[in-house]
Amino acid sequence: MARASERRLRLLRDARPAILPSLLLCDFAHLADEVRRVEEAGAAGLHLDVMDGRFVPNLTYGMPIVAAVRRLSDLPLDVHLMISEPARYVAEFIEAGADVVTIHAEAVDDPRELLTQIRRRGAAAGLALNPRTPLERAADVAPCCDLILTMSVEPGFGAQPFETVALDKLRSLRSTTPAETILEVDGGVNAQTIASCVAAGAGALVVGSAIFRRPDGDYRQALVDLRAAAGA
Ligand code: DX5
Ligand code: ZN
Repeated sequence: MARASERRLRLLRDARPAILPSLLLCDFAHLADEVRRVEEAGAAGLHLDVMDGRFVPNLTYGMPIVAAVRRLSDLPLDVHLMISEPARYVAEFIEAGADVVTIHAEAVDDPRELLTQIRRRGAAAGLALNPRTPLERAADVAPCCDLILTMSVEPGFGAQPFETVALDKLRSLRSTTPAETILEVDGGVNAQTIASCVAAGAGALVVGSAIFRRPDGDYRQALVDLRAAAGA
């Protein structure tokens, strides 16, 4: 792994339970301010949701935004690829500055080769499972993963309610994967749901609306509330 990504992956591991703001719902007209504000609020890393309008019914952004965020921040960048044919793009996302590249199990036949390629190209490799994708899809592949992402909503949109099916997967993964493997949960994580995620073994918690749609706009307080609720 590239030295900088290795260092940032270590930071992420050591920060567990690490809260990662999902920039999906940030104000892109003020991206630099948004990144600075969540950084000052104590975010452990930044989660970037890449959607292609094919794998999920929504479109977001690609490499230029990842590269822009890389220039704005030294935090670990956790890039969540909700795209078909991820093999076509992983190299470019790593070049753009991704530290973790997560592909979806549903987007590839056998993720092993691509996960290995992500590592070889200098980033940490992540595998994501949709709420209705059985855990078995990750079982054989776990040794190729630095991170396993259990989705707690159908991917595509922020501000959806948390699906508890992710908790069973987290519990099972925590008892079967090595301690250094980061278990991540994404979707509907907020002050009401975060404690059960941490108790089930999640070390990385992706949070969108509970930070960016907070009525008072106080990101620092959002992180304080989330950390308190997580018992961290
Ligand atoms: C969903 C994305 C998430 C999500 C998080 O497809 O992967 O990162 O937007 O947002 P909340 O916390 O609002 O569910
Ligand atoms: Zn995500």
